[in-house]
Amino acid sequence: MKSYNIAVIPGDGTGPEVIRESVKVLEATSRRYDFELRFQYYDLGGERYLRTGELLPEGVIEELRGYDAILLGAIGHPGVKPGVLEKGILLRMRFELDQYINLRPVKLYPGVECPLKDKGPEDIDFVVVRENTEGLYVGGGAFLRKGTPHEVAIQESINTRHGVERCIRYAFEYCRRRDKGKKLTLCGKTNVLTFAWDLWQRVFEEVKGEYRDIETEYAHVDAMTMWFIKNPEWFDVIVTDNMFGDIITDLGAMIQGGMGIAAGGNINPEGVSMFEPIGGSAPKYTGKNMINPLAAICAGAMMLEHLGEEEAGQAIEKSVMEVTGKHLKSLAAGRMGYTTTEVGALVADYVSKI
Ligand code: IPM
Ligand code: MN
Repeated sequence: MKSYNIAVIPGDGTGPEVIRESVKVLEATSRRYDFELRFQYYDLGGERYLRTGELLPEGVIEELRGYDAILLGAIGHPGVKPGVLEKGILLRMRFELDQYINLRPVKLYPGVECPLKDKGPEDIDFVVVRENTEGLYVGGGAFLRKGTPHEVAIQESINTRHGVERCIRYAFEYCRRRDKGKKLTLCGKTNVLTFAWDLWQRVFEEVKGEYRDIETEYAHVDAMTMWFIKNPEWFDVIVTDNMFGDIITDLGAMIQGGMGIAAGGNINPEGVSMFEPIGGSAPKYTGKNMINPLAAICAGAMMLEHLGEEEAGQAIEKSVMEVTGKHLKSLAAGRMGYTTTEVGALVADYVSKI
């Protein structure tokens, strides 16, 4: 029997609650599809930081490299200054494990309320491929004359030929494998950011010659936010840099029904990848059995597909669609008509019967 070693980082706030349901569903799926998942839990996050002062202790990154995949709940704590946990844990894992793709499917499931008038599941089904290790996120920059009236703050966007090319190639490959609209949209800002986006556009033009089966187009990021609202049905796969990707994927999450359903993968195609619900730690719902676990469950589905268990991953997705289509009143915490644990049990039940 095939067996996979999974590192689980439940993290902070509602992270542990939603991860528990994700693991429940994954276990039901592994029984149904005859493979084994071995979970190893890691205590990382704001709670641990406040208790011990440790962010990512020595050796943890090295250990994580040895797993088949990582499942992450949420990192974030109201008692910790913004930036500390993000940089010290989440971004450090993405960078050191060289998870150079942030993959964000934006798909409206049946029964889910969409804030866009006259748009339904047939209109909203695209994927954003966000570069995940470069750009403004590198943290390059400086202060000059800090604290004076003439202070200067410089924040640099780093774009390497290697980094841009591997991201664009991944997007083309992904688009081909997905085999839906066979269209890749480059989302940038070539009219103003004439160094970074000149490089991106040149590489895009060069690489597209190898993918004649894929239609290509370009859109400025500001226009993109408009098209997401007006014509989301135009998109199939979108490729963009780290900062723009961060922004447009939150907008994407809203048009697919919100943070209760949005999942993402931090992918290193040659190494270990990490899957997470993108909603954060939701401190005010912690411990109340009210939060929606579907995003964490969908992150588990993405993880299985990544591991090569496509059928099993799709079974989870189908089961989630049954639950959104036939059961949940809303995706919002406390308004689902079910508790967190009940939603997990419902999905697990569908998976076992599929
Ligand atoms: C995300 C998050 C992170 C990011 C934060 C928590 C650092 O917003 O995964 O999109 O900006 O990448
Ligand atoms: Mn974000």
